[in-house]
Amino acid sequence: MADEEAPPEVHHYNSLQEVPWDIQNYWAQRYRIFSKYDDGVWLTDDAWFGVTPEPVADQIAKHIADGAPAERSILVDAFAGAGGNTIAFAKTGKWKRIYAIEKDPAVLQCAKHNAKIYGVENKISWFEGNCFEILKNQLSALAPYSIIFASPPWGGPGYRSDTVFNLSTMEPYSLATLYREYSAFSKHMVLYLPRTSNVKQLAKLVPDEQPATVMHYCMEGASKALCIFYGNFNVS
Ligand SMILES: C[S@@+](CC[C@H](N)C(=O)[O-])C[C@H]1O[C@@H](n2cnc3c(N)ncnc32)[C@H](O)[C@@H]1O
Repeated sequence: MADEEAPPEVHHYNSLQEVPWDIQNYWAQRYRIFSKYDDGVWLTDDAWFGVTPEPVADQIAKHIADGAPAERSILVDAFAGAGGNTIAFAKTGKWKRIYAIEKDPAVLQCAKHNAKIYGVENKISWFEGNCFEILKNQLSALAPYSIIFASPPWGGPGYRSDTVFNLSTMEPYSLATLYREYSAFSKHMVLYLPRTSNVKQLAKLVPDEQPATVMHYCMEGASKALCIFYGNFNVS
């Protein structure tokens, strides 16, 4: 990995002095985010805020691998970020192929680099661009065999402050947008959302014939996030 050149917005911080102030709390938890951080993990400064911590990513990956319908052998990670979830999916060894999409080229380079550190890069096909377009234009033939996982940005009013997070004002993509776009591709979808997400809004999208499951993922005494499993998953 030493011979790879990082783009200018990508860093591997080795000491607290180098770390911008708003990332210092995240950097303090770097081994919980990536246990192999010291092997040279790359992140952009923005990517720190969105990475799924490794123990949570591993648990989600296990639930999806164990609970997915048998005919689904492909996993599409629609918002790959720096690779937190993508790497965890690859580590399960369950999937014939993982397709990972990320629109930010520097962040995508982080994900590719980090996947090499974890020794799973050969299991992943990478796409740079808008996931909604790529699903329609490049991956549609895989739809019958695929599960979609998405950890979208949690922008918009109140993700940290509101007691109940309104998924219809989530930015830049509301729950309704995500559900509409992804269900046109696969009815088997897992969305990773804020722990305070309005569960009534999630429930409204559940079809009559197929109950869904919501799971909270907790670490060190606190809920970190929840996942909703839409489609035929056997999650326990
Ligand atoms: C919360 S982060 C994902 C973090 C990732 N799960 C991880 O553990 O590293 C969301 C990512 O989605 C990307 N993104 C936003 N809109 C996108 C789109 N339309 N298509 C593909 N990627 C997008 C952002 O650049 C960002 O890196």
